[in-house]
Amino acid sequence: MEATMKVEVVSAPAALLRDHIGELVDLLRDSVNGGASVNFVPPLDERINRHFWERVCGEVEHGERVVVCGLIDGRVIGCAHLALAGQPNGAHRAEVQKVLVLTSLRRRGIARTLMAAVEDEARRLGRWLLVLDTEVGSGAEQMYPQLGYVRAGEIPAFARAANGEFVSTVLFYKLLSGSPAP
Ligand SMILES: CC(C)(COP(=O)(O)OP(=O)(O)OC[C@H]1O[C@@H](n2cnc3c(N)ncnc32)[C@H](O)[C@@H]1OP(=O)(O)O)[C@@H](O)C(=O)NCCC(=O)NCCS
Repeated sequence: MEATMKVEVVSAPAALLRDHIGELVDLLRDSVNGGASVNFVPPLDERINRHFWERVCGEVEHGERVVVCGLIDGRVIGCAHLALAGQPNGAHRAEVQKVLVLTSLRRRGIARTLMAAVEDEARRLGRWLLVLDTEVGSGAEQMYPQLGYVRAGEIPAFARAANGEFVSTVLFYKLLSGSPAP
């Protein structure tokens, strides 16, 4: 894997996600059990993990979610999701979720590439306002400002960490270029 390192980025239809569901399960387990605060607590239960990805496949099928996958040698090594706001007054908006890169492949620009792809998908779908939240003190908190995301504020005790403590989250947003926002 190290020798090639060519990352193929695809906006994955549900069928592709289903074909790679084992790798997606591995990817989420790797991040959660590695300490990432992405809605789950370690050790990640395998049934909960698989059920999450099955729900994701359904949402992609129904046009409620976009999942961009990064693949190396045909195997999923990272992903980034866009949850499309379903509210009638929010059709210009989406939430970036589950930006995950395998621990062994971090700090090589893969998340940067996935985020660029997810933003291209958002533009294509007319979703020019992106929002997200991430744990205060995480690597991701350092990353998003590098990618043009604006810090909107913090919420204390938003999530529970593996050690039982409550951790704060930070909210970010990005108006994509060409947005009609003032
Ligand atoms: C956050 C995460 C997706 C970053 O993936 P990555 O592929 O390593 O990120 P990149 O290499 O593309 O980093 C792009 C830039 O973001 C910043 N960055 C990324 N990870 C960082 C970290 N741990 N600490 C500080 N800055 C970081 C850097 O500026 C980096 O550029 P540089 O390496 O040239 O300095 C990855 O660490 C991960 O999967 N974490 C667990 C899941 C998670 O927390 N996801 C985000 C919440 S949705």
